[in-house]
Formats: sequence, structure tokens, C-alpha cells
Amino acid sequence: MPSDVNAMLDIAPGTPLRLIAVANQKGGVGKTTTVVNLATALAAVGKRVLVIDLDPQGNASTSFGISHEARATGTYDVLLGRADVPQATIATTIPGLSIMPATVDLTGAEIELIDMPRREFRLRDALRGAVLPYDYIFVDCPPSLTLVTLNALVAMEWVLVPLQCEFLALEGLSHLVRTLDRVRRGLNPRLELHGLVLTMFDRRSNLCEQVSADARGYFGAKVYDTVIPRNVRISEAPSHGKPVLIYDWRCPGAQAYAQLATELLRRSSAAAIAEAAAIPAAGIRARAASGDRP
Ligand SMILES: Nc1ncnc2c1ncn2[C@@H]1O[C@H](COP(=O)(O)OP(=O)(O)OP(=O)(O)O)[C@@H](O)[C@H]1O
Ligand SMILES: [Mg+2]
Repeated sequence: MPSDVNAMLDIAPGTPLRLIAVANQKGGVGKTTTVVNLATALAAVGKRVLVIDLDPQGNASTSFGISHEARATGTYDVLLGRADVPQATIATTIPGLSIMPATVDLTGAEIELIDMPRREFRLRDALRGAVLPYDYIFVDCPPSLTLVTLNALVAMEWVLVPLQCEFLALEGLSHLVRTLDRVRRGLNPRLELHGLVLTMFDRRSNLCEQVSADARGYFGAKVYDTVIPRNVRISEAPSHGKPVLIYDWRCPGAQAYAQLATELLRRSSAAAIAEAAAIPAAGIRARAASGDRP
């Protein structure tokens, strides 16, 4: 990775651990591509990153070139309580980037989890019980809103939603938003819809412009400024077992993901500043409510 990318990205040292689920129950919208390349860009600037592959398709694991033998222990074992987080985590060839791989067994986890205690909290409990030497954890969710995805939404704090710029892109988002509300009310009050990312954008298409305008009209500043273009190098990269940022870092797709990571770092530090400011404010409010003068 060239050092100018480092200079471009490294604007937010020392941000707190960020737990990010990348989710959209619609298939093929760019969830895995977004996880893999954001994680790579952040690792390239010295962040310590863990990718949790929670999709039985194992596309994130494949995109990092993780062989099937190396996937012997992974997310399935963690969800079922058969392995802890360090046992199920392996290093990738990218320094600072680890992955908890997925195997096809994960398909069965849906059914196996149903009768288990704390079935929505399995991933969260496992992460809480471990030392997490990371700055960012990303979960690559499957294209569904079932129990496995629920485990991600309960364990993480932010949800990032890739939105493919095509017909019916926004359809189903209201269901996702309602699900996030339900999870926030019942299972994880810290869950937040952090942002949406427009993917596979084609500037020549009126439909793409329309989807972008609709998304920005509805979700406002939650929609990332950075837009990921449709780029054939992005679709070639996984078959080489490499993130596009390594496969061809100069191509427009790789550059867009580097820019997306910069925006994520910027938004993370803005959130960290707001959180730090909110802590004393919350204390003052609590004392004022109890009649104790600050
Ligand atoms: N910007 C892009 N330009 C061209 N191809 C892309 C782009 N983003 C993703 N793709 C390709 O589109 C396909 C779907 O992308 P990806 O696997 O990231 O989506 P997904 O939401 O994770 O899918 P699933 O729901 O099946 O998990 C893949 O073949 C990927 O290589
Ligand atoms: Mg995927």
C-alpha cells in the first residue's frame, strides 16, 4: 500500500473501538465488498481491524484468500459456544487485519440457535468475554434479517447499509429500519443507523441519480458523500483472493473505497468528540435533575 494513501487516511488516531455491522437484507448490494475494502484501508493506515464473517457463503473469507482448511474454526463455533474469539480468529496476509471466518455450517446455526439460551446475545457475549485488541470490528452480515444477523445487530453499535444504485434499491429499507428500531428498544439500546453507502454507481444512469436523490432526501446526512462506482476491477478482485485495494489500488473502485475509509475515520472522530462532550453534559443533567447543583 503506498504511503500517500497513509497520509490521505490517517486523520483520526486514537478513536475508540468501533463496532460496525454492515447489513442489508437485500442480496448482492456490496456488503462484503464494503467490509473487505474498508477493513483493508483502515489496516493500511495502522488501525487494528477484525472482520467477522457472519455469512455462510463465506465471501469475506474468500475475498481475503482464506483457504477452506484455515476456516476449520470460525463464527459458527463462536455462536454455538464451542470456541472463544481468539481461537476462532486468524490473521490475514494484511498486517493488522484478522478475520473470524465463516463456513457453510453457519447455515445450520439458525436452527441450532433457536433453543439456546441468550440466542440473540451469543456473539455479543463472546466478544464481551474476550480481550479485543482492535480499533475497528466489522461484521459482514448475510442477506437476511434472521437470528444470525440479529446476533450482529445486538453485538455491534453502528450499522452501515450499502445501497446498490438500481431499481427498488430503497424497497425493503423500511423493514430494515423497523428491525433496527425493534432491536434498539428490546435488545441493544446502543444500536445506531450510522450511515448508508451508495454502491455500483453509474454516473451515466438517470436511475442511479434518482436512487441517490431519493436516499439523500430520505436519510439526509446519513448517506455518505463518497459514492462507490461500478468498476470491473472490484468484481475481479475476490477471485484473486485479494481486496481491490491490493489487487489494483489505482483503479477508480479502490480509490473510492480509500475515500470511503477516510470519510468513516472522519465520521468516527466526529462521533468520538460528540460522545466525549456528551459524558460531562449527561452528568450535569443528572445532577441537575436530582437537585444537586453542578
Ligand atoms: N462497485 C462495484 N462494481 C462492480 N462490481 C461490484 C461492485 N461492488 C460489488 N461488486 C460485485 O457484485 C457482487 C455482489 O457484491 P457483494 O458480494 O459485495 O454483495 P453482498 O451484498 O455482500 O452480497 P450477498 O448479499 O450475497 O452477501 C460481487 O460479485 C462483487 O464482486
Ligand atoms: Mg456478502
